[in-house]
Amino acid sequence: MSSAKLRIIVTDNEKDFHQRAASLVVETLQPLDNPLVTLPTGMTPVGMYRVLVAEYRDLPLWQNLRFVGLDEYVGLPPGDPRLFYLWVARECLDPLSVPLENRMRFASDAPDIDAEAQRMNQWLLAHGPLDLAVVGIGGNGHIAFNEPGTPYESGVHALTLTPESIRSNARYWGREDHVPRRGITLGLSNLAAARHTIVLASGAGKSEILARALTGPVTVDVPASYLQTISNVTILADKAAAEHII
Ligand code: F6R
Repeated sequence: MSSAKLRIIVTDNEKDFHQRAASLVVETLQPLDNPLVTLPTGMTPVGMYRVLVAEYRDLPLWQNLRFVGLDEYVGLPPGDPRLFYLWVARECLDPLSVPLENRMRFASDAPDIDAEAQRMNQWLLAHGPLDLAVVGIGGNGHIAFNEPGTPYESGVHALTLTPESIRSNARYWGREDHVPRRGITLGLSNLAAARHTIVLASGAGKSEILARALTGPVTVDVPASYLQTISNVTILADKAAAEHII
């Protein structure tokens, strides 16, 4: 392991993975007053959200949680079911009763998306940094929509999705041509500033990229390698994803 700052937890099975993910989130947030959190969409966190809702719904902390979107498609109207915000709201924020006024979401339909990125950057400067970033990792090492080649110093920015991300996101919408081509995302500098980071990785398909991100060179070719440069990172992986790092 190239960095002593990374804490790695490997779980035995799927159930433990989801349970542990949920308990890590709660343990991190509970001591904080008004924690600012960003949360991922995707397959990996689904079980964690279910556990949070089933077992931790009654905790008072959700009333004080402040949520900011991690990434979003561009060009969709505010009610489009493909929006990441609506996904996280459905799976987690609504059932946990996180107050609407505590949720900062991207305006996917902003007429000037670069101005929208600036607005979010300014908001983070005024209200951040993140207390907790929960993130997944893409097969190409992306974190949020920070695709390979994204500079480490990037703030919130709009981008064109890579063909790989379009293919991978087509899982949710059945067809590649249903996947929007543009996205907006918190940048690596916004994420690197987080006081705590929890990385979720499950399945054999993530094992090689996870090893490259955590033990390979720190390079923009593998955006997730920024994790080696920051403190307070917990990697939660199942056995299959952890195959090359333990
Ligand atoms: C989702 C996101 C992505 C995913 C990553 C892994 O908001 O930002 O980086 O976390 O693509 O996706 P899954 O969990 O579906 O493998």
